[in-house]
Amino acid sequence: ASTQVKLNTGAYMPTVGLGTWKSQPGAVEHAVEYALKNGYKSIDTAAAYQNEAEVGQGIKASGVARDSFFLTTKLDNPDQKEPDAALQSSLSKLGVDYLDLWLMHWPAPMTKDTPAKADFSHDWLDTWKNMERLYKTYPDKLKAIGVSNFSVEFLERLLAVATIVPAVNQIELHPSCPQHDVVEYCEKKGIVITAYSPLGSDNSPLLTNTVVTKIAEKYGVAPANILISLQANKPNVTVLPKSVTNTRILSNAQIVDLNAEEIAELEEIDKTHHFRACHPDWTGFGSLGFPDCK
Ligand code: A2P
Repeated sequence: ASTQVKLNTGAYMPTVGLGTWKSQPGAVEHAVEYALKNGYKSIDTAAAYQNEAEVGQGIKASGVARDSFFLTTKLDNPDQKEPDAALQSSLSKLGVDYLDLWLMHWPAPMTKDTPAKADFSHDWLDTWKNMERLYKTYPDKLKAIGVSNFSVEFLERLLAVATIVPAVNQIELHPSCPQHDVVEYCEKKGIVITAYSPLGSDNSPLLTNTVVTKIAEKYGVAPANILISLQANKPNVTVLPKSVTNTRILSNAQIVDLNAEEIAELEEIDKTHHFRACHPDWTGFGSLGFPDCK
């Protein structure tokens, strides 16, 4: 697998990056600092994770220069009406002057109520138009824009009106949620896929799946490495293993080249063990075009 993937902007995104969904303030500072000091060149966060300030502290503590790593954050659903302020807030919490990539977190505008509700007074296509405006107006602050959690149906609606093709679509991707249709569609359109929850998120049954452990033994690596490598081996995919544990952060960066037979075996898992780790129950949005997303 190559160590980086070219985006439609011409910039390169490192193949493996550190995920921080569910990484708590108090732990994530150290995880980010440790990852950057130990060779990670990509960090992913989101306003919705409520850890941008701590991710920023980790970046600062690492002493790694801003232009030596790739930084992604995401526009939160309740901020879709106010993307200018949201961008400024993310930059200031992270303590950086620019983002390498800014994603619409979900095609799902929500209110600022607690709990937030679907906001049908706002169209997410208008959010994209505003993200395009910000990208064109502030090339010094935004190096690329993209989307997250977009099914083919939603990508089609986006591409029908977009003047800028998203650089990336970040989606849940692992053997039990392979989303072949989205991966193939994005490859055709020149959109890089970023895989989140490549291990299947917390307490994942994939880490003890016998197909995964058998291949891991063959290569003398951990099951996690096989799951991360499965994504990293795809030509248009980057991958974000999440960990707050030093030993895992280190070992997760190791990629092995799987052969076609092993890849086929891993792809079989979904037939009997399908699950989606992230499917917020956002009444009002339907399945967002994902058949298994409630
Ligand atoms: P922790 O952060 O406590 O180390 P995903 O990347 O699919 O979202 O998975 C993240 C989950 O997998 C977290 O619970 C994380 O725990 C755990 N994890 C991360 N790396 C490994 C690994 N190498 N082996 C086992 N579990 C891991």
